[in-house]
Amino acid sequence: MKNRVSIGASLACANYRNLEKDIRELEQAGVDSIHFDVMDGHFVPNFALNPDILRMTRELTALPVDVHLMVANPETYIPVFAKEGCNTITFHQEATPHSQRELTRIRDLGLKSGLALNPATPLGVLAHVLADVDVVLIMTVNPGFAGQSLVPATINKISSLRNELDRQGCRAEIQVDGNVSFENIPRLVGAGATMLVGGTSSIFRKGLGIAEAVRKTYDVIPA
Ligand code: DX5
Ligand code: ZN
Repeated sequence: MKNRVSIGASLACANYRNLEKDIRELEQAGVDSIHFDVMDGHFVPNFALNPDILRMTRELTALPVDVHLMVANPETYIPVFAKEGCNTITFHQEATPHSQRELTRIRDLGLKSGLALNPATPLGVLAHVLADVDVVLIMTVNPGFAGQSLVPATINKISSLRNELDRQGCRAEIQVDGNVSFENIPRLVGAGATMLVGGTSSIFRKGLGIAEAVRKTYDVIPA
C-alpha cells in the first residue's frame, strides 16, 4: 500500500532576508514539512544552510524538519545536526562506505533515517539496508543547485524502486528532490514517489506567492 503523498518546502530556496516570514507562510499554506538542504562546498560545489540556521528554524516552527546532508563525511555531521533538532536526517550513499552503520545511528538518535542516491547511483546499493531506512531520496537532478532540469532516467528508477518496495512489503517513503515542478509532479507520483521536495520549480516559483504555489502543488498531485 502506498503512503499519502506529502510536500516538503526546500528552505534553501526561501528568502534568506526574512526566513521567519516564509516559514509562517509555509505553515499557513499547509506544507507537511521543511526540507533543510545542507551543502559543504566539497561533496557538492555549492554552500547551503548550516547547524545555526537549523537551530533557528527549530525555534520558529513545529513543522517536521528533514535534513538533507549533501556533505562529505556525514558520520561527523549527523550528531551535529541531530543536536540542533530535526525529525529526519538523510545522507548520501556516495559520501560514505558505511551507509548501514549511519542509518542505524540516526535511528538510535530517535530520528527517521534517510539515504539519498544521486542520479547515477544504482538501486542495488539499497538491497541490504531496506530494513534500516525510513526514507529513500531519489535525486532527480545532480545535487548542488536549484533550477536544474530533471534527469529523465530517474523516472524509471523511481518505478523500479516502487516495485521492489511493494514486492518486499517495505513501507519506506520514496522522496524526490530536484525540479519537482507542477509539470513533473504527476509523473513522479505516478512512478511511486510519496514525498515531494518543492524548490524553485513549485513552492518558491518566481511570480507566485507561497500560498498560491502550495495550493497549485497539491492540485497537481494525482488522486
Ligand atoms: C538539489 C537542490 C534541491 C532544491 C531545488 O541540490 O538544492 O534540493 O529543492 O529545487 P528546484 O530544482 O525546484 O529548484
Ligand atoms: Zn534536498
